[in-house]
Amino acid sequence: MCTTIKTKFLGAAAVVALVGGTSFSALAGSGYGGPYGFGSPADPAAVAIIDIDVVPDGRGAPPGEGTYEQGKMVYAEQCSACHGDDMASPVKGTGAAPLRGGRGTLASEGPKKTVESYWPYASTLYDYVRRAMPFNAPGSLSNDDVYAVVAYVLGEGEVVDKGMTMNADALAAVEMPNRDGFVPDPRPDVHNYE
Ligand code: HEC
Repeated sequence: MCTTIKTKFLGAAAVVALVGGTSFSALAGSGYGGPYGFGSPADPAAVAIIDIDVVPDGRGAPPGEGTYEQGKMVYAEQCSACHGDDMASPVKGTGAAPLRGGRGTLASEGPKKTVESYWPYASTLYDYVRRAMPFNAPGSLSNDDVYAVVAYVLGEGEVVDKGMTMNADALAAVEMPNRDGFVPDPRPDVHNYE
């Protein structure tokens, strides 16, 4: 399925390149309309594959569940090679970040930003791991595996009870340690190029 999307993106890139080099009229006439006269309406099935965002109140979290114990195995097989056995000291040269530790350091001289110390919502952890990790095979984990590894990361960080089951409702209910550490920025947006 991912291959289809990649092909589509490549297709789009090729069209852009063509527009640069040849005449527009060669591409017109697909029947889609719009100002450029080419393209096609987005296919809902293709959109659904990439429409996977999970927001803080739990919207977008898929069905499924996982436990700390299951997550421990997922972590050992899929994550520890880069993030390290203890999650706090990533393997050098991989570019991976520590996933726990650093609580209480944010206002100090040496702030340590981790999932545990910095991220305000657990939904971001689910969303990020599902779309981007493992770094070498993003999108390869099942929804259950992602719930499980989230339970493990947050369990190790002592954010959630190690005996709990992580699922959509539980994810939305997690109180991250830095939940109230962000403040709204009241400055208006600046649009310099309109
Ligand atoms: C091949 C190495 C590799 C593997 C395997 C891997 N990661 Fe990562 N991870 C990375 C790298 C590199 C980054 C930083 C990516 C960036 O900054 O764009 C990262 C970043 C992260 C972050 C964001 C941390 C932060 O504070 O910014 C999380 C969370 C995470 N990984 C979780 C996981 C989980 C869970 C697994 C296993 C399912 C996993 N990773 C497997 C390399 C890896």
